[in-house]
Amino acid sequence: MSKPIAVLVGSLRKESYNLKVAKVLAQIAPSSLELKIIQIGDLPLYNEDIDADTPPAAYTRFRNEIAACKGVIFVTPEYNRSVPAVIKNAIDVGSRPYGKSVWSKKTAAIISVSPGAIGGFGANHHLRQSLVFLDMPTLQQPEAYFGGVANAFDEKGHIVEKSQAFLKQFIDAYAAWFEKLS
Ligand code: FNR
Repeated sequence: MSKPIAVLVGSLRKESYNLKVAKVLAQIAPSSLELKIIQIGDLPLYNEDIDADTPPAAYTRFRNEIAACKGVIFVTPEYNRSVPAVIKNAIDVGSRPYGKSVWSKKTAAIISVSPGAIGGFGANHHLRQSLVFLDMPTLQQPEAYFGGVANAFDEKGHIVEKSQAFLKQFIDAYAAWFEKLS
């Protein structure tokens, strides 16, 4: 049976390249994995006051969805050489209440996606810092810095062969490593 894997996309815009990449990953993932894009755009900015007695419904929905998944793949742009706030906020929401983090031991991977040449390296590595603290074993190789993404889709919106091969290598490595850790 395929294992549910949460996919968090760090851009909220409709025509997001990161969202397009996440959808390709879901299509080309091996049958051992079922990739599910989990919504994070509706999560109120994390605030311990509103989380105290009756947490916002969006927090509860999000925590339950992550808890039901066996792993997490982050597909993220780089904002100002770091992680977009929407991803960091989702991480913070999932890490609370204290002692009940939904992230602990979840097998993770990161792919950063950018039209720029550096491929979101800064976001990719800043994100890794949080995942160390959250005790999420994170795929190390292949590192996935997807630069020049504007050239990765043709005029019909289909991914070009070379870029698909890059994504296939990434998702297959994650699947193999996920299997090994399970
Ligand atoms: C960016 N962008 C960007 N790109 C990059 O490679 N390094 C960076 O530090 C930044 N910084 C940055 C800050 C902010 C606030 C925005 C809105 C954008 C450009 C970014 O990579 C580009 O807009 C991508 O297309 C965003 O990803 P989506 O929305 O296409 O998935």
